[in-house]
Amino acid sequence: TPDVRPLVAGNWKMNGTRDSLDQIKAIAQGVMVPLSEKVETLICPPATLLYVSTALATDSPLAIGGQDCHQARSGAHTGDISADMIADCFGTYVIVGHSERRIDHAETDQMIRAKAQAAYQAGLTAIVCVGETGEERDAYQTLDILKRQLFGSLPEEATAENTVIAYEPVWAIGTGLTPTAKDVEIVHAFIRDELILRFADEGKGMRILYGGSVKPGNARELLAVDNVDGALIGGASLKATDFLAIYGTY
Ligand code: G3P
Repeated sequence: TPDVRPLVAGNWKMNGTRDSLDQIKAIAQGVMVPLSEKVETLICPPATLLYVSTALATDSPLAIGGQDCHQARSGAHTGDISADMIADCFGTYVIVGHSERRIDHAETDQMIRAKAQAAYQAGLTAIVCVGETGEERDAYQTLDILKRQLFGSLPEEATAENTVIAYEPVWAIGTGLTPTAKDVEIVHAFIRDELILRFADEGKGMRILYGGSVKPGNARELLAVDNVDGALIGGASLKATDFLAIYGTY
């Protein structure tokens, strides 16, 4: 997308202990200028490593974020963390509505919208995830599902600055399968149109990431597709060399 700074983001999911901080360190050191001026980078470690990760990345352009937040600012919600807590740890992004949260924790579009609003209130950029399941894809429902998820999960206050969209086809996550470049192009163009319809100029500048089995070997092709403004990487973000290789395809 013209005039948009792509974002290469890693989602560590429920992986990573203190041993893994060497990988954060290596990524923080590996994303220096000049490429970092053109491409933004982000790692979302588990909450237990958030604070120490931001400390390790202080002198680096690498941003650190959370993988989820509760929709409330604070209160009686055992086990949850708030957007303010992520900001307090110097995180600047938070993923909301990942399919693993939608499925494992029965999160609805309405909850995800409230989480994105909580993120804005805390000054975080929300990465709002959407994507169809394999069954929905086989039933040719992909675009209908995405339309519903985008409409339901994105708050009215979404802007190009406070919001990133991640398209993650559920069947491509952790499977080694990816859609063809042509399919990614069709879906991302559809998402772009929907964003422009609803948010006008802001929708033109919102970044749309592709996620699902992005690896060093397929990154160049996927990232070159029109309206693909970066990647959300799971497995391949756990190893600094893989993450940096994907970033290096820009
Ligand atoms: O959020 C990223 C993710 O769901 C993709 O995971 O392991 O297929 O890259 P992976």
